[in-house]
Amino acid sequence: MIAKRMKMIAAGIFVIAQAAGVALGVPTSSTVTDVRFTVHNLSNNNDPTKGLTQGEGRNYNASSTGQADQVCIFCHTPHNASPAVPLWNKVYPGAGYAEGFRLYTSSATLSNTAKAAKLTASSESLLCLSCHDGKTAINVLHNSSYRDSSDGATGDAIIDIDGTLTGAGKFAIGDLWIGATSVNAPNLGALRDSEGYIPSLAASTNGTNLTDDHPIGFSYTAAAAEKVGALKPTPDAGIRLFGGRVECSSCHNPHIYYGSGLAGSTRIDYASLGLYVDAAQRERTPFLTVSNNGSKLCLGCHIK
Ligand code: HEC
Ligand code: HEC
Ligand code: HEC
Ligand code: HEC
Repeated sequence: MIAKRMKMIAAGIFVIAQAAGVALGVPTSSTVTDVRFTVHNLSNNNDPTKGLTQGEGRNYNASSTGQADQVCIFCHTPHNASPAVPLWNKVYPGAGYAEGFRLYTSSATLSNTAKAAKLTASSESLLCLSCHDGKTAINVLHNSSYRDSSDGATGDAIIDIDGTLTGAGKFAIGDLWIGATSVNAPNLGALRDSEGYIPSLAASTNGTNLTDDHPIGFSYTAAAAEKVGALKPTPDAGIRLFGGRVECSSCHNPHIYYGSGLAGSTRIDYASLGLYVDAAQRERTPFLTVSNNGSKLCLGCHIK
């Protein structure tokens, strides 16, 4: 009886939450892709129906005075993009710099294919690394000819970033994490100390150290052919290859709504902001292409 009542109450709450979600334009269980409600929304939005507002569960957003009420603009532009695919709007890491990324290749048990991994000037992973290297400023755009929808004014190639950050930390993913106790700092290019912390500005902006990150930049098919019985011939549905290669976006989708974000190094559950979050969405944290509950993502490629 009590159990039944609880169920009915729970169902009632579910319906209310879903209705509220729809009213706010918030993602529901059937729409897990909504970049507006993620830390990848760097806009200066202050209308809760249009995405996260300033200071709400994210460390980086454009300042109020900037012409930056768009969400996609920090990564895409409709015109004059570089590289053209996927209409990219970030100043891209140059060819020499791209090839300078040091990858996870020293492991003796890797296939020869993975040991020879290398990023080139056209590697898909450079899209992510044009922010996540800790070195490239997140607020510098390639094409500044976008419009602010509130007044139609032309944008600025360099957008002011606001929020809880001060000094250099405003501009590159990295400075926020110097000496921080979070070892999972989103600055992947940093040089880490033995405990996984980023010890200094120089280490933070080193920008090329991917030796402690999952291997990328090589053909999955060729590696799987060498590792019969250890890797699936093709990855599970949802996991993506780019020109047959493993890249950041094999495991990540930068648009996925997963119901949480960051304030400093503290994880903020967006349910506490009144947003709709369910288990399926949480399992996609952070920006995962498929759920990693029970290591589903890992087992989507590895036979272990
Ligand atoms: C933080 C960076 C970022 C933001 C913000 C972003 N995207 Fe993307 N987008 C990417 C990357 C990287 C790719 C390349 C494919 C991938 O990794 O999923 C991509 C690919 C795409 C694609 C082509 C492939 C696909 O998934 O269909 C479309 C369309 C797209 N984005 C639309 C948008 C729109 C519309 C917005 C704003 C509402 C947006 N993106 C915001 C980074 C971003
Ligand atoms: C325009 C800059 C930009 C680009 C491009 C970008 N990101 Fe991010 N990403 C950010 C920012 C800003 C954060 C939040 C960092 C923080 O708060 O410390 C973030 C956070 C993340 C997080 C952690 C989220 C969490 O909740 O812990 C992941 C994972 C991530 N990004 C993956 C990617 C991947 C993969 C790509 C490429 C497909 C990508 N990002 C492209 C700016 C970017
Ligand atoms: C093989 C799958 C895979 C690949 C490839 C991959 N990631 Fe991740 N990434 C993950 C998973 C899973 C997590 C969550 C880790 C956890 O449980 O904390 C994660 C976490 C992150 C985070 C959050 C900070 C952290 O260290 O936990 C960032 C930022 C990130 N990835 C960016 C990237 C970028 C950029 C690339 C490419 C250079 C990349 N990832 C390649 C699977 C992957
Ligand atoms: C897109 C498919 C894919 C996904 C998803 C994936 N991996 Fe991998 N992983 C690979 C490939 C391919 C290699 C290279 C194997 C080789 O060549 O020997 C690799 C290498 C590794 C290695 C290094 C092996 C060595 O010999 O040093 C480890 C450890 C690993 N992955 C763990 C994980 C974990 C943990 C996850 C989940 C968070 C994961 N992988 C998700 C494809 C994937």
